[in-house]
Amino acid sequence: MTTPSQAPIIRLQGVEKWYGNFQVLTDINLDVRAGERIVICGPSGSGKSTMIRCINRLEAIQKGKITVDGTDLTGDSKAIDTIRKEVGMVFQQFNLFPHLTIVENCMLAPMRSRGLSKAEAQERAMHYLTRVRIPDQAHKYPSQLSGGQQQRVAIARALCMAPKIMLFDEPTSALDPEMVKEVLDTMIGLAEDGMTMLCVTHEMGFARSVADRVIFMADGKIIEQGPPAAFFDNPQHPKTQQFLGQILSNH
Ligand SMILES: Nc1ncnc2c1ncn2[C@@H]1O[C@H](COP(=O)(O)OP(=O)(O)O)[C@@H](O)[C@H]1O
Ligand SMILES: [Mg+2]
Repeated sequence: MTTPSQAPIIRLQGVEKWYGNFQVLTDINLDVRAGERIVICGPSGSGKSTMIRCINRLEAIQKGKITVDGTDLTGDSKAIDTIRKEVGMVFQQFNLFPHLTIVENCMLAPMRSRGLSKAEAQERAMHYLTRVRIPDQAHKYPSQLSGGQQQRVAIARALCMAPKIMLFDEPTSALDPEMVKEVLDTMIGLAEDGMTMLCVTHEMGFARSVADRVIFMADGKIIEQGPPAAFFDNPQHPKTQQFLGQILSNH
């Protein structure tokens, strides 16, 4: 018998997507278990961002099916609202509101779409700002923070919605090198707490130590996937070998 915890929390079945005549995703099949930590890598333009943006319905698909925590994303707009509350997303750019303080940035969405009172939203915001280790920055404005701090605020802001799943799209690639570690450490903390995570990243040290599974995409397809040790030490597909050769020689 299958218990609910064994059913995939995310399921992509035969997903196809086009931008006009250009096919950006081809026959994507992916099951993610609750609590699983997945790293997605691959060359620029391979469809990584598009795939994860489909998982919280920032992008629509033309063929196939995506189910998130039992909700069919091809359904009505109510389904989309449900998904947006359950799936948090962190982008390369932090996208904080410049005219709001750090704590206000974190309070906004829970008050608007979760119906929290101001006091409740503030308490929750301070909880997560403490968790990402910047409670002392709460009353500053985004421009007064470093890039690494702003990205940690973006993570705290997503967590304030109490998501079941977190999507990260190259969260450290816009950061100065000395700030990468503080953001990765925050993500490692989330992983240790059992969050279901899909991370597009080329931080291979992070992938090796945190991921349960590494997925390699090229030309809109999942070409290869596996546990990090097998993926990095014994890649099977020539495109994976070529990609890993390139990024590892750059580090
Ligand atoms: N809104 C869009 N309209 C047209 N083409 C797009 C759009 N977004 C992405 N693409 C194209 O789709 C392909 C995959 O993009 P993307 O998912 O951003 O790749 P990755 O994140 O792996 O670099 C690229 O060739 C890109 O130019
Ligand atoms: Mg991308």
